[in-house]
Amino acid sequence: MSTHELHGGAKPLAAVQLHKVVRQFGNQRVIDDLDLNIAPGEFVALLGASGSGKTTLLRMLAGLDNIDSGQLRVPTARAAVFQEPRLMPWKRAWKNVVLGLRVENAKARAVAALTEVGLAHRLEAYPATLSGGEAQRVALARGLVREPRLLLLDEPFAALDALTRIRMHELIIELWRKHNPAVLLVTHDVDEAILLADRVIVLAQGRVAEQVRVDLPRARHSGQPGFQRLRAQLLGLLGVEVETGDVEQNPRYSHG
Ligand SMILES: Nc1ncnc2c1ncn2[C@@H]1O[C@H](COP(=O)(O)OP(=O)(O)OP(=O)(O)O)[C@@H](O)[C@H]1O
Ligand SMILES: [Mg+2]
Repeated sequence: MSTHELHGGAKPLAAVQLHKVVRQFGNQRVIDDLDLNIAPGEFVALLGASGSGKTTLLRMLAGLDNIDSGQLRVPTARAAVFQEPRLMPWKRAWKNVVLGLRVENAKARAVAALTEVGLAHRLEAYPATLSGGEAQRVALARGLVREPRLLLLDEPFAALDALTRIRMHELIIELWRKHNPAVLLVTHDVDEAILLADRVIVLAQGRVAEQVRVDLPRARHSGQPGFQRLRAQLLGLLGVEVETGDVEQNPRYSHG
């Protein structure tokens, strides 16, 4: 037992603890003896090939799917946002935000959450009248209103245009800083992972194949020293060839 545990401080050691977790469909072990910890308030990005089990993992963490064996510990207060906003078309924005939430001051809570995502003026709107980015912000507000200690994001920006995606990146970081949940963000976009996360993990064969800590100061941008080196490293881990001429010189490999 570590000294941290002996001290028994108010802060738990990990927001997420997975030990030897297995999930299989038929003969296919999609998640295979997976060990993974996420610290309270840590922002983790999850990369991996299509079909590597990212959504399966996220669904288990969200409590939407069971594990077959192993141990999984997650906070009760958790929320998930997916690639599509999954709003009820016949309910106004604010009602979607507090759907299923049993609290007395529901509307006030919805208004506060929608204000945080910049949608105070769209409280009464029906989903069909919202843009893709607005709908996704309603989905985010629906997550926030539950005051999650773990926020699970499965490619939430993938369907958005480039400019909206940049705004969403800024919003996510702002909200993360303010509320400080642990975040697990599934993405296919290596740049997005480096821009947002404290740590990037690569899922392969049902396990954490690689992980890289991102120590770049925020707010980040792709021209920052070290950014391109990390990018090349992660693309390499994902099996994508990169033109090394475009990449900053890594002293270990320089011949000059
Ligand atoms: N309910 C299910 N029944 C059977 N097989 C499933 C089920 N859910 C997922 N799978 C299989 O598990 C594997 C992992 O799927 P998953 O959706 O987790 O991948 P992913 O990493 O999220 O992929 P993508 O990047 O394309 O979203 C796939 O081979 C998929 O077909
Ligand atoms: Mg997926």
